Amino acid sequence: MVPPMSGQTPSEQCFTDAASLSKTDWAEARQALTGPQPGSLNIAHAVLDRQVAAGRGDRAAVLSLGRRYEKRRLSVAQLADQAARLAQVLTRHGIVPGDKVAVLTGRRIELYVAAFGAWKAGAVFCPLFSAFGPGPLKSRLELSQAKVLIATEDLYRRKVAGLRASLPDLVHVLLIGEDGQPVAGEDAEDFNALVAAATPAATIATQAEDPAFLHFTSGTTGTPKGVLHSHSAVVAQTLTARLVFGLQEDDVFWCTADPGWITNTAYALIAPLANGCQVVVDEAEFDPRRWYGILKDEKVNVWYTTPTNIRMMMRYGAALARVYKENSLRVAASVGEPLNPEAVAWGEKALGVPFLDTWWQTETGAIAIANCPGRAKAGSMGMPLPGVEAAVMSRELTRITPVDQPDEVGELALRADLPSMFTAYMGEGAHYDSSFVDGWYLTGDLVRRDSDGCYWFVGRADDMIKSASHTIGPFEVECGLMDHPAVAEIGVVGKPDLLLREVPVAFISLNPGFEPGEALRVELLTFARQCLGGALAPREIHFVDAMPKTTTGKILRRALKAKAVAEPEDDELILAPVHAGRFDDE
Ligand code: WT7
Repeated sequence: MVPPMSGQTPSEQCFTDAASLSKTDWAEARQALTGPQPGSLNIAHAVLDRQVAAGRGDRAAVLSLGRRYEKRRLSVAQLADQAARLAQVLTRHGIVPGDKVAVLTGRRIELYVAAFGAWKAGAVFCPLFSAFGPGPLKSRLELSQAKVLIATEDLYRRKVAGLRASLPDLVHVLLIGEDGQPVAGEDAEDFNALVAAATPAATIATQAEDPAFLHFTSGTTGTPKGVLHSHSAVVAQTLTARLVFGLQEDDVFWCTADPGWITNTAYALIAPLANGCQVVVDEAEFDPRRWYGILKDEKVNVWYTTPTNIRMMMRYGAALARVYKENSLRVAASVGEPLNPEAVAWGEKALGVPFLDTWWQTETGAIAIANCPGRAKAGSMGMPLPGVEAAVMSRELTRITPVDQPDEVGELALRADLPSMFTAYMGEGAHYDSSFVDGWYLTGDLVRRDSDGCYWFVGRADDMIKSASHTIGPFEVECGLMDHPAVAEIGVVGKPDLLLREVPVAFISLNPGFEPGEALRVELLTFARQCLGGALAPREIHFVDAMPKTTTGKILRRALKAKAVAEPEDDELILAPVHAGRFDDE
């Protein structure tokens, strides 16, 4: 039993379910999830087949809400059956264990069939973010070497079809037609027709360390990194969801994260279903009435979202919240960026539960530090979960030393033995190796630990931009714009933003023959949106005569950042609004 922390006011303490935090036993959890063969581990088996075998196949698994609130449902058995059929389709298409299956669907029910179908076939599920433009999608598809892409027809036609010739690894494209319409075309096949006609395949007996899913994080230099995880991640994801969210069987769980980001894979696809919960998936863009309505009408018990979304909800005020005050929420939690105490308190006032901040990153594969029911401190990221060892380190080149003094800033490090820890940066063995020192994984986040043992976020140790809770690598944005003939040099930095925390802004020096001015600015912003997509395109462009540089000639992003902070916000330059951290996927 973990005692409540000292110095807490009653409002800082959430519910008193601390008993569930007394023990984390990864090995025991691993054992419980074993299958389909003795000793093997496969996420699809652990999440679906196990429940079907235990006679729980009839329980609700997915409730999907279409844009016009059309409801579609899948029970556990139905999802397992459709995934097994897709597994057969994939195998027939030449997919063997370890092959990558890319998925570009947005928030839809087919995402579930695609992910679990890939796992049943022993393949690696590689979800892509629908608000990326053709440029970022191309680099990710190339890096993944995906042989199969499952996509909605609309997203494929708008973003990927034109890239086919430059993606030699991509052999098969399976498309989901709008409103279930059959898909026609020479370059693709109909996903639904193939699944309906297939016979269910047995789940492949993968090993815990076999690769299972692939996400991308952006570096401050170089192309995006492919972060690979193995099937053993399901152990940490299942257990952490139980610890942090206090999940109970038949809970209704809503995670608002977009596919393509690991929060969706871990806590919209895997963890709640593994714990016998039903998940809600909403295809529509943010709308405060709709979101309050979903929480209330679909009787959501546990809600996992982001600080940007919470700030958006707060913007619409308490009066609207009061209309929906009656709800079934037991736990609300947040991830992706710091959560301020006002937002925590707002949760309590507007929804009846405080928001619990949780910390993790793509590489850790599961929540590592969190405020939990029974032990929470508003404004902090909380404490390491049981079974997770964390430390604050001071790093000098390859040497690390623990920072033992409370409140002293250092880099957050985690013991590398977390079952969900990533297993590779694809194709970058040296980079992967250098992320670990003396058995510690170094996160790149600067934090401090207070005398209660709570961790507080201080900032990133690098130039990464956090916008609407998404991580943006400045280098990827810079590369996208360098393709425009007007751009001689470019530096991209995050500019503080009240709603989104930061927005990417670009400083550009021009090639001879190009005149700075409104026309070129709009042209460049449009170019960026078309190539990079709404998620990565800069919101502002500033022309500069010369770039600030280091003595070795590298662009000094720090100096640009100071410039960006000093610039007043210019609303007119914002081309397309961002809705609560979601981007229309142009
Ligand atoms: C980075 C990871 C897997 C979560 C989704 C993002 C920042 C994450 C918090 C928090 C302050 C946070 C860190 C981290 N971050 N949670 N509670 N408070 N910052 O995954 O894209 O890999 O980003 O997000 O900087 O390193 P990601």
